[in-house]
Amino acid sequence: GDSLYKGITKAGRKFVGTALTLRNETTEGEIIKQEFNSFTPENAMKWESTEPSRGNFTFADADRYAAYAKKNHLQIHCHTLVWHSQLPKWVSDGGFDNKTLIGIMEDHIKAIVTRYKGSCTRWDVVNEALNENGTYRSSLWLDTIGEAYLPIAFRLAKKYDNKAKLFYNDYNLEYNAEKTAGAKRIVKLIKSYGVKIDGVGYQAHLASETTKTAPGPAPDQKTLEAALRATADEGVDVAYTEIDVRLNTPATAEKLAVQAATYQRIAASCLAVKKCIGMTVWGISDKYSWIPGVFAGEGAALLWDEDYNKKPAYYGFLKGI
Ligand code: XIL
Repeated sequence: GDSLYKGITKAGRKFVGTALTLRNETTEGEIIKQEFNSFTPENAMKWESTEPSRGNFTFADADRYAAYAKKNHLQIHCHTLVWHSQLPKWVSDGGFDNKTLIGIMEDHIKAIVTRYKGSCTRWDVVNEALNENGTYRSSLWLDTIGEAYLPIAFRLAKKYDNKAKLFYNDYNLEYNAEKTAGAKRIVKLIKSYGVKIDGVGYQAHLASETTKTAPGPAPDQKTLEAALRATADEGVDVAYTEIDVRLNTPATAEKLAVQAATYQRIAASCLAVKKCIGMTVWGISDKYSWIPGVFAGEGAALLWDEDYNKKPAYYGFLKGI
């Protein structure tokens, strides 16, 4: 097709999205209208943004995203309910016992999920619960509640919105087989509690060449497909949820061509797997990508350059769809 959205629709998949931070950039709105039918609020629905102190829910910012979605007929991939990061200090340093923490989790999930019921097509219920070797990541949640925090979170999300598709979301699942096996175990664990899980999100923060913080090149298409199938075989949907493909900056024409081929096979791997329902890229323009701020010397990871010109990566991604 001649846009990402037309392509994904023609391919019979449900969504192509971007991470969204609402800001004064009219070009972003135009690109979203043209290319995407879904977005993930980049930060607005995280715990630190929505419950900065206990029982004090601040919805003003997240409400703008719900309104934006409604106005522009977009799906929201809502993000995220239970995570170790971007938690307010009152949660992370609270020293709560098991029972109190489960209560805090329920209060939070109840408030947010209820508020955005009908706006959220999908929810990332739990984010990043795994270590690289596939064991559970030590966190406030695991250390206080044990692995049961996962099914508990999913049970609560369903209790307050029985329509949204409920996802487990993590990174490096695309190529680290031990971690992918961990995600498969999480799906089984949740189901073993008799609780619903609809999907696994593969963040896909990848690199097209070796950098200080990531192995390169990004996996070949067969590896990507196998990784998606590993959890899809458990009877859940899968999706790429936060795609970016970083490189050592500055970019050169040669690096951008390798990146374009990487985007193409990421897209192609999703379309090769029936249960892969869609893909989200983690932002529009390189100008606002989170990568350079977190991984020094790396970046140029998205589909549009700093001046909103389509990069070779855009055409690669489109070709893969
Ligand atoms: C990132 C945002 O892009 C940044 O703006 C913020 O400062 C930190 O978080 N995995 C996730 C996302 O699930 O929520 C993260 O987003 C990127 C890694």
